[in-house]
Amino acid sequence: MTVLGVIGGGQLARMMIGPAVELGVDIRVLAEVEGSSARAAATAVGDYRDVDTVLAFAEGVDAITFDHEHVPAPVLAALAQRGIPVHPGAHALQFAQDKLLMRERLAELGLPMPVWARAESAADVDAFISENGGRAVAKTPRGGYDGKGVRVISAASEIQEWLESGPVLMEELVDFTRELASLVARRPSGEVRAWPVVETVQKGGVCSEVVLPAPHANSRLIEVAADIAVRVAEGIDVTGVLAVEMFETVDERIIINELAMRPHNSGHVTMEGSVTGQFEQHVRAVLDLPLGSTESRAEWSAMINVFGAMDVSRYEFAAKHPDVKLHNYGKEPRLGRKVGHVTTSGSDLAQVLADARAVAAVFE
Ligand SMILES: Nc1ncnc2c1ncn2[C@@H]1O[C@H](COP(=O)(O)OP(=O)(O)OP(=O)(O)O)[C@@H](O)[C@H]1O
Ligand SMILES: [Mg+2]
Repeated sequence: MTVLGVIGGGQLARMMIGPAVELGVDIRVLAEVEGSSARAAATAVGDYRDVDTVLAFAEGVDAITFDHEHVPAPVLAALAQRGIPVHPGAHALQFAQDKLLMRERLAELGLPMPVWARAESAADVDAFISENGGRAVAKTPRGGYDGKGVRVISAASEIQEWLESGPVLMEELVDFTRELASLVARRPSGEVRAWPVVETVQKGGVCSEVVLPAPHANSRLIEVAADIAVRVAEGIDVTGVLAVEMFETVDERIIINELAMRPHNSGHVTMEGSVTGQFEQHVRAVLDLPLGSTESRAEWSAMINVFGAMDVSRYEFAAKHPDVKLHNYGKEPRLGRKVGHVTTSGSDLAQVLADARAVAAVFE
């Protein structure tokens, strides 16, 4: 029996369970708490920052992968020292853990990015702002998610507390027409496959809707987006699924926002929208199994996130749209919390979006 260990018990681990079972893979999860989203496969509950906890969990697995990017370097090093394959490896994962390292490495690879700088002091921040039109984006290099750790500022004083704990990434405020994401999967032995580029819509810094493929994408855009993701995956030796968040600018350039080295919210739409969904592909990739086709199953597919609560007692209301697929993360309801998503597919994009939004609204 092939055994896959997943560190972290969130919804990404949860959505790996079904595909792993289908592939005949024994999946085990190290969850942070009892009753986690991935509880169906949680064989251990413990602190992923603790070397002994993680090594005990990893006993007997064929590979380790992740639900999130926060596993510290010493834990990754201890796994590697035991000879346990870790995907993505620490040498790649560092670029998803630290946005400053990511910018430095992508610059070395010659990939397109916003104007950016490392700011060590308030003077650095103010200089960057005045060189870039009076307003700029400041980001904490580590630990940000869902827009936390991202601020549009016009003076260093607005991020004083960040500067006290280390350098800050400064970026030009990109005048984008829309946000895109390019997803690829890559095996340790080198096979790499990209899905068609998707359009993502963020509300308040949080992903809310995704359309596969990105509307009005000409063949140049499709090629450029896939090429960028493949160059990142190969350039920094990513194994598993990689999501490259990108901006399309008013002058029709594609520039990289950030990287995620795991299945990503922008790829949930592939679960039904593609022949091979991102969770199945991730399980295949990290176990170095042949990758599946990334062809779309329909002309259009859309995904809408559900926030707050996704109570099963409301499924009856959602049944007016039986084509819409429900994904419930089994999480305790909390205001603003991502608790599930819905997807649907078809040949009329307006209809696809209307149906998916109608069902997501049932849970609001
Ligand atoms: N340089 C920029 N110019 C304009 N908007 C930006 C810029 N950087 C980020 N944003 C906006 O803020 C959102 C969140 O930024 P980013 O993806 O870096 O943060 P995050 O908290 O790591 O996000 P995630 O939700 O993907 O974890 C982006 O999706 C985009 O809408
Ligand atoms: Mg992001």
